[in-house]
Amino acid sequence: MFLVDSHCHLDYDPMAFDIPGTIRRAHDQNIKGFLTVCTDLAKIPAVTAIADSYEDVFATIGVHPHATQNTLADQELYSLLVKEASHPKVIGFGETGLDYYYTHSPHERQKSSFKAHIKAALTCDLPLIIHTRDAEEDTIDLIKTVGKGKARGVMHCFSGSSWLRDQALDLGFYISASGILTFKKADGLREIFQGVPLERLLVETDAPFLSPEPYRGKPNEPAFLVETVKKLAELKKVSFDDLCSKTTQNFLTLFSKARMSCV
Ligand code: NI
Repeated sequence: MFLVDSHCHLDYDPMAFDIPGTIRRAHDQNIKGFLTVCTDLAKIPAVTAIADSYEDVFATIGVHPHATQNTLADQELYSLLVKEASHPKVIGFGETGLDYYYTHSPHERQKSSFKAHIKAALTCDLPLIIHTRDAEEDTIDLIKTVGKGKARGVMHCFSGSSWLRDQALDLGFYISASGILTFKKADGLREIFQGVPLERLLVETDAPFLSPEPYRGKPNEPAFLVETVKKLAELKKVSFDDLCSKTTQNFLTLFSKARMSCV
């Protein structure tokens, strides 16, 4: 069974300079599905063009919390997201969410953008890719109040508390493991992942960010996903192959619009 990188940014440098090579190196590691995640409305044409060019690349559309300062107002943003989601390779909304750690955009702008994404997700019945940092309570509150128990999605690049893990699991969300899991000082996070059932796990690189060990400090790319999967398999006491098939099945369950023609 092949792996899927459930979150990468193929339109970012340095991968953008050599997307065919990036994908070839990933294929050599049996990674045969990619979700390239949009971070700003201006990037929609680029991410959808990449998805159109490769059979096993899918895209999301959305505005990263950092970029919400100058984005469209709620209603316009909602309408644009719904319209763009009709693209056949667009399989989710994000990354969206809240980031009070950096606060590159005011909290109120982040919240209104997040709400627009949640509403679009309900209208289109597509999953959300959620980025949350130092904003756990507000994130869960908005998923509950705006999502009305129907929103589904993934907590991407999970590095939160056990409280956030449990809340997300209760809401039916998936939890995605990134390269952070391989870091020497990540014992607390590894402990938190012990409590995530196999049927709710996804794996991702978030490339070009957060390279796993032993590539830490270098630009990340989808081929490095295997390092995170090896670490997670060890942690969950399952074989590498079983974890590949489980996380790929989970990806296809959550991102049901993806039609994997790459087996
Ligand atoms: Ni990302």
